[in-house]
Amino acid sequence: MRGGPADAPPPVHPRTPAPVGFFEIISENFLGCRGGRRQALEEIAYHYPVVLHGVSLSIGSTDPLDFGYLRRLKRLADDVDAPWVSDHVCWTGVLGVNTHDLLPLPFTEETLAHVTGRARIVQDVLERPLILENPSSYVEFRASTLTEWEFLARLAEEADCGLLLDVNNVHVSAYNHDFDPEAYLWALPHERVVQMHLAGHTDHGTHIIDTHDAPVAEPVWELYRTAVELTGGGAATLLERDDKLPPFPELMAELDRARAVAGSAAAVTTGSGHG
Ligand SMILES: [Fe+2]
Repeated sequence: MRGGPADAPPPVHPRTPAPVGFFEIISENFLGCRGGRRQALEEIAYHYPVVLHGVSLSIGSTDPLDFGYLRRLKRLADDVDAPWVSDHVCWTGVLGVNTHDLLPLPFTEETLAHVTGRARIVQDVLERPLILENPSSYVEFRASTLTEWEFLARLAEEADCGLLLDVNNVHVSAYNHDFDPEAYLWALPHERVVQMHLAGHTDHGTHIIDTHDAPVAEPVWELYRTAVELTGGGAATLLERDDKLPPFPELMAELDRARAVAGSAAAVTTGSGHG
């Protein structure tokens, strides 16, 4: 769809072009969609790179992979020429039930083998890189024998997939489970971090909820700086904001701060999403 010179470009709305490097869309919002929303997507995809971010792959579930969903996902990715497709290291349901929650996994060798095998299949179907994100979590499994960062590092290597490092989620989970977020960042295979997320959260004192309805918190900016240094500034960064949207200039100021940290090497953009 992002055609060559022979293609007539879709009409451009008479608006100021968005000063962003790329767009991230929630895949499920555009699967099979037609009409104005689809037209808007095509227009955006003509002018900007678009990456797909899913919330229902359920890579950790024991339900069979949904190949119907994967085929529709591939079609959408092909249509917008998405350089990669992302989803979360989680499960969202079992026995055909979709909870619409990104549920945590037990970090065991058995789970690792299960998720690794499925990630390889997903990449084969999509014919493009799968990038898996660390979700925020609020409970842990006693059965876990690996730390989250050990699990992610081995998953990325053994499945030969990329990582979407949500820096806010690292902070949220580190607070909730009392681990060192810096050690987490150091332990990841940095060359496999393809994209990063920044977002705001809500601190309830005893725990933090990943709400995406506030500016990025200072401790998360500190972690982001470390993450950029460790990854060499080459990962694309997305600012997630889903609720209590501030005036646009305030969002752009947050992006500018991310750009200043990341340097000119990283593409930085903003969007609305999950996880
Ligand atoms: Fe995220």
